[in-house]
Amino acid sequence: MVVNETGINEIVDRRLFYYPGFSIYNELGGFYDYGPIGLRIKRNIESAWRRLFVERLGSLEIESTTILPEAVLKASGHVATFTDPIASCVKCGTAYRIDKLLEEFYEKMKDTASLNAVKKLSIEEMEDRIDENEIACEKCGGRLTKVERFNLMFRTNIGQKGETAYLRPETAQGVFLDFKDIFRSYGLKLPSPICQVGKAYRNEISPRQRLVRMREFTQMETELFFDPEKDQSELNRTRMDDILDTTVRFVEAGQEIVLEQSLRDLVRSGLVPNNYFAMMLHLEKRLLAHLGISDEKYRFRQLEKEELPHYSKGNVDLEISTEYGYIEVAGNAYRGDYDLSAHAKLSGSDMSVVNDGKKVVPHVIEASIGLDRMLLAMLSNAITDDQRGWPWLNLPRQVAPYAYAIFPLQKDTKILETAFSLYQRMVDSGVQCYYSESGSIGKRYAKADEMGVMHCVTIDFQSIEDGTATIRDRNTTKQERKPIGEIK
Ligand code: GLY
Repeated sequence: MVVNETGINEIVDRRLFYYPGFSIYNELGGFYDYGPIGLRIKRNIESAWRRLFVERLGSLEIESTTILPEAVLKASGHVATFTDPIASCVKCGTAYRIDKLLEEFYEKMKDTASLNAVKKLSIEEMEDRIDENEIACEKCGGRLTKVERFNLMFRTNIGQKGETAYLRPETAQGVFLDFKDIFRSYGLKLPSPICQVGKAYRNEISPRQRLVRMREFTQMETELFFDPEKDQSELNRTRMDDILDTTVRFVEAGQEIVLEQSLRDLVRSGLVPNNYFAMMLHLEKRLLAHLGISDEKYRFRQLEKEELPHYSKGNVDLEISTEYGYIEVAGNAYRGDYDLSAHAKLSGSDMSVVNDGKKVVPHVIEASIGLDRMLLAMLSNAITDDQRGWPWLNLPRQVAPYAYAIFPLQKDTKILETAFSLYQRMVDSGVQCYYSESGSIGKRYAKADEMGVMHCVTIDFQSIEDGTATIRDRNTTKQERKPIGEIK
């Protein structure tokens, strides 16, 4: 049985998986620190992603700067268009994202047609809806100002002259800027995927739902560069035919029904732009399996035209069911040559490459995964209550914070030495292990279960006599005795 929202948040808060940043001063919302366990889980998700999107796909990975000068973001379109519609209360000054405020209003009124149409409204139409429905400040009932466009980027200044710059709103731009040099230096051929993991920043008006809408967050992005005129039957020696057999859960733009369709059919009917785009959906589905998120918990959703980011010719979001309903965890976009051509135009640098003797400005398929949101979705799907007395996290081994917890049962010198040397042998061989001497054994088991540790090894007096230890399995709680040397 999966337990409810309070269950997972209780564990997250008690074990400090993550928590609001700088809270002794001023909790501004949308900023979170990761504690020791949450950080291990986050890194393990990143490693699972890397195995698929970097190693398996044959990508190269880079790390670019998180501060970008204004010119980069002017070219990319973010200075002009990366905005949300906002208005504030004339009395108390509280700011609102007007599209979200209207959506909440129509949801309360159970007016689904108006709710679904909000994303298509212009600024003026939003203002009309606010007036017509007499929507006021939720805090003090005050009137709302006119609706304006608010840019989501954090602005800063560089050096003594104070040149305008921004914290990057996506990791993608660094990949676009570096692409040509990497392509040449590594002797690449199209198609070529390049990845980046790192922080991105958005000055959200109303951050909420914990890791769902944050102001500082981590993205795992893949930009797949390709020649749009070449056939897409292979990608780094993977036959696309095999990939296209994958069946996925898919919702067409403007629809509610989840279709179960092969990627081949989705490409044929134009719902998925092309084979390489399909490859990203295939890898995301595989990633979910590695993270223990079951099939019925996800869906891909094609975005409507009005929802598309400014650079996109077509988007499909990966959504996962959580305690907050379905949340967007990844965005897949066909960015065309939008970014490379825009940078070529504004910088005056030629961004084309020579591929098979032909000059080409590659097109790009992007798979952008929100790491924090993925962690939230994974945890909310992992929490389990089987009446053992406490809830526990059913995490697969590759993402669990520790494979083993090692517990000396008594504080006897020989027992402590044996337990600690097992711990050292395990960590030396690369196994993620946890060691704890304190608390009753029951409490130590409960804590390990809450953290999602796969196995608990208990060293007792018998261990000193015959070299065995008890191993407890997290999922079944069954215990067996085994020679210590066989534990790995
Ligand atoms: N790179 C896509 C996004 O950050 O939304």
